[in-house]
Amino acid sequence: MVKICCIGAGYVGGPTMAVIAVKCPAIEVVVVDISKPRIDAWNSDTLPIYEPGLDEVVKACRGKNLFFSTDVEKHVAEADIIFVSVNTPTKTRGLGAGKAADLTYWESAARMIADVSKSDKIVVEKSTVPVKTAEAIEKILTHNSKGINYQILSNPEFLAEGTAIDDLFKPDRVLIGGRETPEGRKAVQALKEVYANWVPEENIITTNLWSAELSKLAANAFLAQRISSVNAMSALCEATGANVSEVSYAIGKDSRIGPKFLNASVGFGGSCFQKDILNLVIKINDYQKSRFVNRVVSSMFNTVSGKKVAVLGFAFKKDTGDTRETPAIDVCKGLLGDKAQVSIYDPQVTEDQIQRDLAMNKFDWDHPMHLQPTSPSSVKQVSVVWDAYEATKGAHAVCILTEWNEFKELDYQKIFNNMQKPAFVFDGRNVVNADKLREIGFIVYSIGKPLDAWLKDMPAIA
Ligand code: NAD
Ligand code: UDX
Repeated sequence: MVKICCIGAGYVGGPTMAVIAVKCPAIEVVVVDISKPRIDAWNSDTLPIYEPGLDEVVKACRGKNLFFSTDVEKHVAEADIIFVSVNTPTKTRGLGAGKAADLTYWESAARMIADVSKSDKIVVEKSTVPVKTAEAIEKILTHNSKGINYQILSNPEFLAEGTAIDDLFKPDRVLIGGRETPEGRKAVQALKEVYANWVPEENIITTNLWSAELSKLAANAFLAQRISSVNAMSALCEATGANVSEVSYAIGKDSRIGPKFLNASVGFGGSCFQKDILNLVIKINDYQKSRFVNRVVSSMFNTVSGKKVAVLGFAFKKDTGDTRETPAIDVCKGLLGDKAQVSIYDPQVTEDQIQRDLAMNKFDWDHPMHLQPTSPSSVKQVSVVWDAYEATKGAHAVCILTEWNEFKELDYQKIFNNMQKPAFVFDGRNVVNADKLREIGFIVYSIGKPLDAWLKDMPAIA
């Protein structure tokens, strides 16, 4: 029986290994982590992350050929193939702070592998890493190698949160990079055979190591550029009377451009894009978030001081509880900076997480939950509630910051009746039917759409 061990039981390691286990009954998969609470949660009825379809997959194979453990060294020593799926956040201090990847977790995992291994290993980079990381890892592993042969492969993960299980079941492609030597090719083949249990062969791409590492960064840069391009268009739309949805549809019909990933938004979030992409795009993304805050403040007579503002959605996208780099953090901080009373509702994000995110300095929120300070100072202007109606009661404005389906289905008449007037909706995800809301009496702002007369008369603060 082939034994796989995955170091890092996070958003990538957990779902990816669960899918390998469910698709490959002949392989034993153990996911290890230094965080005991995370491993305990993976072994409980309440998994540590929310992801549609994940519970079923984990329940189907946990205890059979899928295990979660904190006994990192034992399982690494026993494995034939070791995936490393630890977090690789942006450095917050020292050389390259705010730009370069922090490979501390990766390096310590590699040193541990070198220390405990007694047999040949295939070590797979699952984390997103800078190009040439494999070379550095190879040096760590072989420095003290005791005659053990290590083959390093790059097998970047392309799943998106919220659709992780679908993406893993039917990946557009699986990418495996390895050394162009007989041993390297053999290792690539061994990993290819794992995926071939459910992924058609033509969708498994094999390349050299550096192409695989670079392709992951390139894909994220292209995707983030697309969103920033459409977001830049949204500002033009608002200035000219064009409608960004119509523009997206029209350009997406061009087969060279394609229709996906062209939704204008309050800005992209998530743990990956920000850290993996080009400076220029980050600037547009920051501009989009501050433009949104400016629109809210300027529409409400240039001040939100003391006014209740309801925030619907805090996760960086729907169908996840993940808040890393969520635009909601910057938008809420902007509103709090103008002294608003912010009342937040998200179906999956806990109050504790929201308070911690809002108390964090920029960059701190890249770190995994258990490494963050446990008792953040509470933010008095913020309340977190478990119902959209509670959040909006008595509010002057509603800001929709995540595209949760339930926000389309709310009883907006009831919400309107319980709000201060004039009642505003700022739709940062273009999810509500703006015309219906206008009929009710709301003043509605949708990203990149023709502006209501009210908003036209209140030009955004520069
Ligand atoms: P995460 O923070 O959710 O999980 C990482 C886990 O690794 C944590 O639980 C942490 O405790 C554990 N860990 C850190 N050092 C360890 C060590 N030495 N030994 C054992 N466990 C250790 O991170 P994630 O979102 O799963 O991301 C992992 C990697 O995958 C990152 O490089 C990320 O860029 C990449 N990635 C993420 C996504 C995504 O959607 N989240 C998608 C593709 C790629
Ligand atoms: C991304 C990549 O898509 C994935 O391939 C990679 O493995 C990890 O990073 P993820 O961050 O989980 O995945 O979600 P994604 O669907 O890419 O969304 C990222 C952000 O962009 C979200 O905040 C989302 O709301 C936003 N977005 C996405 C838009 O604003 N408009 C769009 O058209 C698409």
